[in-house]
Amino acid sequence: MIVENLKKQIDSIINNTNTLESQLQGICDYLKSEINYYDWVGFYFKNGDKEELKLAQYAGEETEHTIIPFGKGICGQVAVSNKNFVVQDVNEQDNYISCGWKVKSEIVIPIFVNDENVGQIDIDSHTVNPFTEKDEELLEYICKKVSFLQI
Ligand code: SME
Repeated sequence: MIVENLKKQIDSIINNTNTLESQLQGICDYLKSEINYYDWVGFYFKNGDKEELKLAQYAGEETEHTIIPFGKGICGQVAVSNKNFVVQDVNEQDNYISCGWKVKSEIVIPIFVNDENVGQIDIDSHTVNPFTEKDEELLEYICKKVSFLQI
């Protein structure tokens, strides 16, 4: 993974699209097509005043998990921990919401606006142990960019 090139492409998607929805969709589509072990890419955001996440844009198979209560699953845990969560093997997690037998690993990175955790990017992979620090670097960069769009 050449993070610098990917970051430049993300910048151009954001700069060349003009609605939040199309920017987020563009990021999802780009990451899923560009990184072969990214099999599902989506954004969840806090659902108004509720203690739950709501699915926004995504690329990959449709999921029934469009609403996730805070604390539930990998995503719900990140909503309360405010920390990156890298799961190299989902079989080792008890508090995990399965999106199908094919998913073997998952990474979730929070998005902050004015120090408040407003949402996250969530990646599912069909490969065990695929993620490195490069993934965290790239996804943190994207989350920071998205936080500017949210304001
Ligand atoms: N696996 C997630 C649920 C969302 S899907 O991956 C799209 C979780 O445990 O929170």
